[in-house]
Amino acid sequence: MKIGVYPGTFDPITNGHLDVIRRALKIFDELIVAVAILSYKKTPIFSIEERLNLIKETTKEIENLKVEAFDGLLVKFVKQKGAVAIVRGLRAVSDYEFELQLAHANRRLYRDVETVFLMPSEEFSFLSSSLVKEIAYFGGSVKSLVPPIVEKALKQKFQR
Ligand code: COA
Repeated sequence: MKIGVYPGTFDPITNGHLDVIRRALKIFDELIVAVAILSYKKTPIFSIEERLNLIKETTKEIENLKVEAFDGLLVKFVKQKGAVAIVRGLRAVSDYEFELQLAHANRRLYRDVETVFLMPSEEFSFLSSSLVKEIAYFGGSVKSLVPPIVEKALKQKFQR
């Protein structure tokens, strides 16, 4: 059984992430969405429980998918789960340099792990969680960018 791990901060999950999840499930028998509890670089606005719930609710109809939190090094989690690959989305050339760095670093830490890059649909190529948060913060509509439950959660978060 081939298990893939799709890691991220998911603060919050967007339609772009969902697109990557669906594509990855065509390749792997099981996919684990691995939600980073703490990030070295980011301070999430949604708690880990909120981020997990939003993903679980959004993906409850999708088969062969698990949603779990992880702490510490990603490769440690990947090893623990017996996964064969890390899945990352490549939206544009600008993602490439950082992703390459991350993939090599992960390989250095765990030589048996592969990184698989998937291209989300071009309609989501501009999308990021930060962009979605900024639009929602200033009262814009994020309807076409995130699942309805995330739209609602963002509205609540930024209620003024
Ligand atoms: N659709 C929409 N948005 C997408 C996307 C897609 N298909 N693919 C990427 N993104 C966005 C994300 O929403 C995120 O947006 P944001 O910056 O506005 O929040 C951004 O692109 C990607 O952010 P990035 O920081 O690259 O990744 P991440 O937040 O998704 O997760 C971890 C990074 C958690 C995987 C990484 O930090 C990690 O592995 N941490 C654990 C510690 C570790 O092992 N470090 C690595 C040692 S080498």
